[in-house]
Amino acid sequence: MKKKFIFIANWKMYLNFNQEIEFATSNYDNLLKLINKNNIILCPSFLNLKTLIQIFKETNVNICAQNCSDHCKGSYTGQISATSLSLANCKHCIIGHSESRKYLNENENDITEKFKQLINNYISPILCIGENEKDHKNQNTMNILDNQLKNILNIIKNNNIKQHIYIAYEPIWSIGTGKIANIDHLENIFAWIYEKIKKLTNKHIKLLYGGSVNSKNISILKKITNLDGFLIGKASLNFQEFKKIVKS
Ligand code: PGA
Repeated sequence: MKKKFIFIANWKMYLNFNQEIEFATSNYDNLLKLINKNNIILCPSFLNLKTLIQIFKETNVNICAQNCSDHCKGSYTGQISATSLSLANCKHCIIGHSESRKYLNENENDITEKFKQLINNYISPILCIGENEKDHKNQNTMNILDNQLKNILNIIKNNNIKQHIYIAYEPIWSIGTGKIANIDHLENIFAWIYEKIKKLTNKHIKLLYGGSVNSKNISILKKITNLDGFLIGKASLNFQEFKKIVKS
């Protein structure tokens, strides 16, 4: 049987307010046709979350936030709580993306708190992890990932979490660069993450790959064992390219 993959379009801040709505409305029918054996999740800016949730209500296209606050409420100017996301009917949220770790100075404790906020609000977290190029070259990847997973896996182990949880392995040096790691490396990493999770819990955590996914490399990436889907940045901005990735 053909495997059902999840395709998450992480639009970052590439599209402006109008372009996000234009993408959703002009590709509405084609997106629904693409769903079939796949799951599609779109991640617009905060400003358009509610509009896209409205546009795709009663369809299987899901809408995801690109981040959330590590606090429940209070004097945190510029932040958005998981409670608000939940009240806006947003069911998914990315946390720990390397760009948020870098530009917003997020550390493991912040990301752990965000994970807890999401769990408490019944939102599915999409936790991003990944090593930089130096650590990759020094074969330090597993130590880095171990540290990024430690707190989160403890929470999963000690709680009966009902919603889906996603872990996206995104080597930082692959994001937006056109470079992907060799397939043996990816096979090893995903097998290692899979085994690590299996030792702790029976819950199926969905494993995603992200970093320069495009229509040319998707068919070989789809062969990786233990992989449930993809987090796609740049290549998700052009509907024809996105369609090729999903349909390949
Ligand atoms: P990219 O981004 O596909 O443009 O490399 C992926 C991501 O950052 O999630």
